[in-house]
Amino acid sequence: MAENYVLTGDEVKDWESLMFLYSSAIKEIMTKIEILKDEFEYTHHYNPIEHVSSRLKTPQSIVRKLKLQGYETDISSMQRYLNDIAGVRIVCSFTSDIYRIADMISGQADIKTLLIKNYIASPKANGYKSYHMVVTVPVFLSDRAVETKVEIQIRTIAMDFWASLEHKIYYKLEGNCPDYIKEELTECAKMISDLDDRMLKLNEAILNLSEEEGGL
Ligand code: GTP
Ligand code: MG
Repeated sequence: MAENYVLTGDEVKDWESLMFLYSSAIKEIMTKIEILKDEFEYTHHYNPIEHVSSRLKTPQSIVRKLKLQGYETDISSMQRYLNDIAGVRIVCSFTSDIYRIADMISGQADIKTLLIKNYIASPKANGYKSYHMVVTVPVFLSDRAVETKVEIQIRTIAMDFWASLEHKIYYKLEGNCPDYIKEELTECAKMISDLDDRMLKLNEAILNLSEEEGGL
């Protein structure tokens, strides 16, 4: 699993089965999103989703996070305490799309929403905005179904642009970020938030205009 941590044969098997579950859960969520996207395009001639990505947390990162939080680095801790072993990120055009997509996902009969962190309504102190949901999706195996956790992050292109840069800076500077860069980032987050609001209003104005024209 990590350096200085030797797994027994059974533990390796458990680990592999667990990672198989999480990667299957990602596939299930990705398929659901793909279907929603196609259906939306078909019925509304509009695609609210710009792009979708997914990732499976690495063993090193799983162990680091468990240790950091003071938990045992075993398989049951992983399942119990980590919500983001399977992660899916959905990037869309407008803030209004975020809630629409979140509702469409959480409304599905086999999805259970465990947790919502709405960093759009309540941004983090650094300016981070995004809508996070932790859901479970059943993974159907040959003899049973296993409810498996997936963290879904939904954000606009502008929010994603900011978060990518902020993450890169934070990672490069290993947490020792000078104040002027932190301040500049927070300032940029405000600009990005204004931009999202203005683009949303602009889009609504365009839609209203085209509806009026269509009605003439
Ligand atoms: P971790 O941050 O994963 O330990 O879990 P948490 O319980 O604090 O969850 P939270 O919802 O706050 O964050 C989960 C994920 O959101 C992170 O792994 C990042 O991908 C993203 N995220 C949260 N805060 C920030 C932030 O300030 N900047 C950036 N770039 N990403 C963030
Ligand atoms: Mg965090």
